[in-house]
Amino acid sequence: MSLPIRPRRNRQSAAIRGLVRETRLSPRQFILPLFITEGTENEPIASMPGCQRWSLEGLVGEVRSAWEAGIRSVVLFPRIAENLKTRQAEEAWNDGGLVPRAIQKLKAAFPELTVITDVALDPYNSDGHDGLVSDDGRILNDETVVALCRQALCHARAGATIVSPSDMMDGRVGALRTALDGAGFQAVGIMSYTAKYASACYGPFRGALDSAPKAGDKKTYQMDPANAREAIREAHLDEAEGADILMVKPAGFYLDILHRLRSETSLPLAAYQVSGEYLMIKSACAAGWLDEKKIVLESLTAIHRAGADMILTYFAKQAALYLAEGEE
Ligand code: PBG
Repeated sequence: MSLPIRPRRNRQSAAIRGLVRETRLSPRQFILPLFITEGTENEPIASMPGCQRWSLEGLVGEVRSAWEAGIRSVVLFPRIAENLKTRQAEEAWNDGGLVPRAIQKLKAAFPELTVITDVALDPYNSDGHDGLVSDDGRILNDETVVALCRQALCHARAGATIVSPSDMMDGRVGALRTALDGAGFQAVGIMSYTAKYASACYGPFRGALDSAPKAGDKKTYQMDPANAREAIREAHLDEAEGADILMVKPAGFYLDILHRLRSETSLPLAAYQVSGEYLMIKSACAAGWLDEKKIVLESLTAIHRAGADMILTYFAKQAALYLAEGEE
């Protein structure tokens, strides 16, 4: 054939593929989500094989090994004892609570670590919702935002680097910024769950924290998976309210949303490869149906290629170790 243009020329060797590669992963882009619990025992999580709920001692050990693999950022999710859960979720801003103690311990052991905290009431709320619930079952927006500000200030006092509201209440980013600045925490960043979808992919996570809603679902605050323009609207709002980083969640099913937000904002974008995505990959690999290294790196590369600067993933440490084995 007389073919002057042959794209395969640029694929003919590993060396040339390495030259033309457009997207590369680095451990510094990964954020490791960590579950924490009271007590001295680490607990394996039945709904998330390979993950643990860490005791505070165990947490330090896990972060040390993640640090050695190149990870510099973690996000904390607490399992709160049933007897501390209330309808007003007051434990969420207890300065002696599990999350503030974990932050202090991590910052003492790893001063350079980025400690991100989840701002939402679901682990603390006896109703299992991210927001406060009225007697007739409505999720109360403005009252919840007041509670979220208390929670974020508690995390900031303990030394959190970034607070990350995952609740999807309206107006919470602006309210958090004002509250943090008013208390002298201008340096504490806000990573906003901007486009968080009402996804079936969160099931294993709710199992890990015993945080499933007691009644109803999260569709009056999390977004409809059918909507994309609405994500752009949320992004503009979060940006105007002072968010430092915007997040899309889940990641793998929502690459189009990442791609659209990439062209709508100059803010850094995060994507959360959530528990259900982790479990789909993990279970297929455990069955011997997929190659774990290849599928993990492909899934993360796709998320980065679509526009995510950083990725929250339960594979963070493993992926960092895979990357250390080098490119082909
Ligand atoms: C709750 C929260 C959820 C996740 C992160 N923060 C669950 C939910 O919204 O029900 C899910 C993360 C995952 O599935 O890995 N504020």
